[in-house]
Amino acid sequence: MNKFAFIKEKWDWKPHLSQKEFMAFDSKIKIAACGRRWGKTEASAYDMAYYFLTEENYSQMIVSPTYDQSKLIFRTLESLLKDMKNIEIKRSPYSYMKLKNNIITARTADNDGTGLRGNKADRIVVDEAAYIKDAVIYEVISPMLADTNGDLVLISTPFGKNHFYDFYKKGINRTK
Ligand SMILES: Nc1ncnc2c1ncn2[C@@H]1O[C@H](COP(=O)(O)OP(=O)(O)O)[C@@H](O)[C@H]1O
Ligand SMILES: [Mg+2]
Repeated sequence: MNKFAFIKEKWDWKPHLSQKEFMAFDSKIKIAACGRRWGKTEASAYDMAYYFLTEENYSQMIVSPTYDQSKLIFRTLESLLKDMKNIEIKRSPYSYMKLKNNIITARTADNDGTGLRGNKADRIVVDEAAYIKDAVIYEVISPMLADTNGDLVLISTPFGKNHFYDFYKKGINRTK
């Protein structure tokens, strides 16, 4: 069953057109520059929940400029998965959920990404990515995906001419 059929059947949720385009787009790095209330948190949560339930040995991480921001997606995930009894959830020292060998963690990029260094993931979703320092994206977050050849998803409202702007420009001719 494809992702959208799975999500529709399980949660009766449908992405709007541009959410669907973004969620379907298959690339090692993808970026969505969007306005507030586009549905970043909601689309990211359904996407992550889908991989959490269908992949194996798969680690996903939510990273945001602040831990509170990451917890918003995490809490949405918790509510999507609340009926599943075999999920282990921890909230300290950071939010963490585990199902068999699949994990999702919610982390912050603050303190120059100090808390992220040395971690690995198969997929990292960076919410409000434009508000994270270039060095944290290039020197901390990208290397976390090197060993796994993992996927990087950057979602944000635009903010200045930074890494997010550069990724956006690189991607602009590759969307269709
Ligand atoms: N595909 C969708 N169908 C219905 N409602 C949606 C959809 N995507 C987002 N929403 C609603 O729109 C509002 C904004 O979504 P949210 O994910 O918080 O946006 P953002 O994180 O981009 O600010 C929320 O109330 C959310 O439930
Ligand atoms: Mg949001």
